[in-house]
Amino acid sequence: MAGLEAFDFILFGGSGDLAMRKLLPALYYRHRDSADTTGWRIVGVGRQAFSRAAYLELAHEHCRQHIPAKDFNPAAWNAFAQRLDYLQLDATNAADYQALAAKLVDAETRVRVFYLATAPSLFAGICAHLQTAGLVTPDSRVVLEKPLGRDTASARQINDDVGAIFAEQQIFRIDHYLGKETVQNLIALRFGNVLFEPLWNRFWVRDVQITIAETVGVESRGEFYDNTGALRDMVQNHLLQLLCIVAMEPPTNIEADSMRDEKLKVLRALRPIVGGDVAARTVRGQYRAGAIGHRPVPGYVDEPGICAGTHTETFVAIKAELGNWRWAGVPFYLRTGKRMQERLAEIVINFRAVPHPMLRTASGEATNRLVISLQPNEGLRLDLMAKVPGEGMNAQPISLDVALSQTYQTRQWDAYERLIMDVIHGNLSLFMRRDEQDAAWQWVEPILQAWAQGGQTLKSYPAGTWGPTASSALIARDGNAWHEEG
Ligand code: BG6
Repeated sequence: MAGLEAFDFILFGGSGDLAMRKLLPALYYRHRDSADTTGWRIVGVGRQAFSRAAYLELAHEHCRQHIPAKDFNPAAWNAFAQRLDYLQLDATNAADYQALAAKLVDAETRVRVFYLATAPSLFAGICAHLQTAGLVTPDSRVVLEKPLGRDTASARQINDDVGAIFAEQQIFRIDHYLGKETVQNLIALRFGNVLFEPLWNRFWVRDVQITIAETVGVESRGEFYDNTGALRDMVQNHLLQLLCIVAMEPPTNIEADSMRDEKLKVLRALRPIVGGDVAARTVRGQYRAGAIGHRPVPGYVDEPGICAGTHTETFVAIKAELGNWRWAGVPFYLRTGKRMQERLAEIVINFRAVPHPMLRTASGEATNRLVISLQPNEGLRLDLMAKVPGEGMNAQPISLDVALSQTYQTRQWDAYERLIMDVIHGNLSLFMRRDEQDAAWQWVEPILQAWAQGGQTLKSYPAGTWGPTASSALIARDGNAWHEEG
């Protein structure tokens, strides 16, 4: 990566959960590991009245919690803290932006990043105020956190408003799943090897499963989550982006628009799930009280910030299909949920059984499977059939297993480290273009509408399980089963 130029990083929502948990730790790491950071300036911006010292204290307290002790070096922190400042600003008050302008007055030619870690309802207003205050320079970029809007119409409105002020190449719509090392490794695996491409199609792939399971509940974000639900929070963005990387055609290069053109084609090829299909192809669930490990946890309705009588889903499973030459007829099973049995994020490619079974196997069929693990450990595993030692010719699966942390002994970057650096360098490859995001909303919207009209009952599941039984039934109808379901 090229040396870092001087930049100003203006972090709206500067004292919020995302800033404290992810963004400041990511900036700390990059600062600690970069050779020249003399030109860095980070300004947390928020409504709360903190002095600079109080803000640094807050940041210190949180970063210590979120950065492992072995990586938290007091000298490195002190050096980083010198780059950090705070400004109290009401994002809806035009006059407050003058104070921001005063802080940045000497720096019109520097790269300027406005990171909006706020509610999407504030995005348009913030951008308008930035422009009025003369803060939008040619080298400015704006980062928009997800979910962007609640549906196609609201997302279009935000995109129109932000797009009136920033050019498309200045807009970084972030999906932190694309910053995960294993997701980029999937791109390398598919397009850096000849091995998989001939098999990567409907002739050899039986089904694809994408799971993002979390053991956490809604934590301190009850109100946000209750207004959002798992389909908007996880499927519209993270799961669909993973699906795009699995299913896209090889781009001609890794430039932003080559990649985004191919992802867009995948999103447009998704078969719409509408009307009666919604009940047959989707499952929505909500957790009730249960146990994670051996620790009892409350049900969703008893979490702080959740409305009485809520119908918000904390679990979604969907059978998606692509209407294109490569993938027609191959089910892409998507599943995500809170308070599940394990924290697990993985992509599983199940290949078809061998056409002519000569060997005896315990499972009855000889199959291969590729598992791309994103969480809790990053790795790749290829299951192959091999002969059982000894007499006879019986086969059983063995695994070629690569734990990326062992292959590369270096610390794995957090997704936000990679993406923040990409923003500073102006590299859009791992960010969503407007038309991509629009296509994702258009696919999700009929499902949201059908659910709102009672098109799918909310199934309850005990916390600490793999979700409602309807989720297993959804995939069992095709003769398949979720990978490693316990
Ligand atoms: C966020 C969602 O985008 O992703 C959260 O808003 C979710 O609800 C989080 O917990 C999961 O991210 P990760 O990287 O911890 O799997």
